[in-house]
Amino acid sequence: MSRIAFVKDAQNAGSYVSRDRAYVSIEDRGFLFSDGVYEVCEVRDGGLVDEERHLDRYVSSLKALKLVSPMPIRSLQLVLRETIRRNHVRNGVLYFQVTRGAARRDHAFPDPQVQPTLTVFVTPVNTAIRDARAAAGVEVKTLPDERWARRDIKSTSLLPNVLAKQAARESGVYEAWLVDKAGFVTEGSSTNAWIVTNGGTIVTRPLSEDILPGISRSIILDAARSLQLEVEERVFTVSEAKTAAEAFLSSSSAVLFPVVGIDGAAVGNGKAGPVTLRLRAFSRGISQVSGVQLPSI
Ligand code: PDD
Repeated sequence: MSRIAFVKDAQNAGSYVSRDRAYVSIEDRGFLFSDGVYEVCEVRDGGLVDEERHLDRYVSSLKALKLVSPMPIRSLQLVLRETIRRNHVRNGVLYFQVTRGAARRDHAFPDPQVQPTLTVFVTPVNTAIRDARAAAGVEVKTLPDERWARRDIKSTSLLPNVLAKQAARESGVYEAWLVDKAGFVTEGSSTNAWIVTNGGTIVTRPLSEDILPGISRSIILDAARSLQLEVEERVFTVSEAKTAAEAFLSSSSAVLFPVVGIDGAAVGNGKAGPVTLRLRAFSRGISQVSGVQLPSI
């Protein structure tokens, strides 16, 4: 059981605390306004997967919301590693979040600026369940995309994502695929969405403010290109997805799961497709897993 979290805020200069005693203020702007950003990274064999790409996106998210990192990136890297080490997690997910800190409630930013709040925790994953999902595939349900217009920022403001995921789970499926007003799939509630056409082309929506620039998405694109597979970054409709040869979803926690059903209709033959499985294996192979040494950045 993982028990140690890291907290740094106005009350706490930065310490590792028992997870059930890790508190932040009720006036924290993350709690009041979702005024914060976060990252979720896979932990594999005790190392962080694709850490540099996650840190780059973290910096972009901070910038987009005019937030400042509560500590230099190198110090943050130390804290992330130390949190994994103290919890003895081999395989899991590491979560870290930065909010604009605690201040008297006012929608505008606190003036003067207050100390941002950093929280870090790590949770082990049951790799047997994950690997079973990766082999058997999952089903998705399509729903209107009701999110705000800056989905490229990894903000903690996730209410439409939460409601969509819950609707999916109430329908007995794993994920919701969100659909824009023109009928094109944007992405999943917590994953990027992909199809493989009958001609073998891998298709995913191009980066824009409409979707999160997934780290696993970028790795899978690298993998597909290394395997010399045809890739098209373009939009696709729900009906194109339903008649595609294969479909899959990606995220740092899932890595890549085949999508074998959409709104109750089987994709392809209703089983994990060969291109999907090949991409999953290859993507895992090219991910960078950090060791205990800090890379120079
Ligand atoms: N979700 N799209 C959305 C809306 C997401 O929330 C996520 C990640 C992704 C995939 O991004 P990445 O490959 O970097 O994990 C796409 C994380 C895992 C979460 O919120 O738990």
